[in-house]
Amino acid sequence: MEARLQKIISQAGIASRRAAEAMILEGRVQVDGVIVRELGVKYDPVQVEIKVDGKAIRSAENHVYYLLNKPKGYVSTTSDERGRRTVLDLLPEVKERIYPIGRLDMNTEGLLLLTNDGELMNGLLHPRYEVQKTYVARIAKGLSEEEITALREGVKLEDGLTAPARVRVLAEEPGRTRVEITIHEGRNRQVRRMFQVVGHEVLALKRTAFAGLTLEGVKRGEHRALADDEIKMLYDTAGRQRG
Ligand code: URA
Repeated sequence: MEARLQKIISQAGIASRRAAEAMILEGRVQVDGVIVRELGVKYDPVQVEIKVDGKAIRSAENHVYYLLNKPKGYVSTTSDERGRRTVLDLLPEVKERIYPIGRLDMNTEGLLLLTNDGELMNGLLHPRYEVQKTYVARIAKGLSEEEITALREGVKLEDGLTAPARVRVLAEEPGRTRVEITIHEGRNRQVRRMFQVVGHEVLALKRTAFAGLTLEGVKRGEHRALADDEIKMLYDTAGRQRG
């Protein structure tokens, strides 16, 4: 939720409202790396990184963490100008303002994390930490050895070569092959585009794992809160210390 910068700083326990105003005027406060000297500008502390004297502040918000098994037909945004159903419609009882950590296409199903912890979200989405994401893709025909090798070593997309991936064929039946692929990048429609480059259309796509978490025990359309040890593991993965 948006609030005035001085209010966010004082709620984080750094200083009184008055002292926070003085810090802003003195140029000691940065929002996403840019010094803000104006009083009264509003931000959502989940969406931006606020630093005082170069140190990131921790918001006083109560953080919540959910694992959702997203079905097809939902967009991974918090609102949609075209009125389509969003993943938030699947967690109606959650009162906090949460955001998905990354995105799944409308027609992709599977594991999606949602949180109001901006610090963890930024870490998990940062390319430096190479967070592993596993998908199962269904394609019509079998993959040749050359195609598997190309996917593993990297294929050329419009936005550059993909990083090495883990690829294994799970099942091959006439007209239906299931392939598991693990990547650590998060480009738009990446898995579908990778298969397209080697000549296969992805007919169905499901994310089965993210940063070591799996869909075990969570049926399609359902969600669960993360356990403490899972949150800690995500913090370690994202190179962050939990405060
Ligand atoms: N790759 C895709 O093509 N789609 C997704 O939703 C996620 C990864």
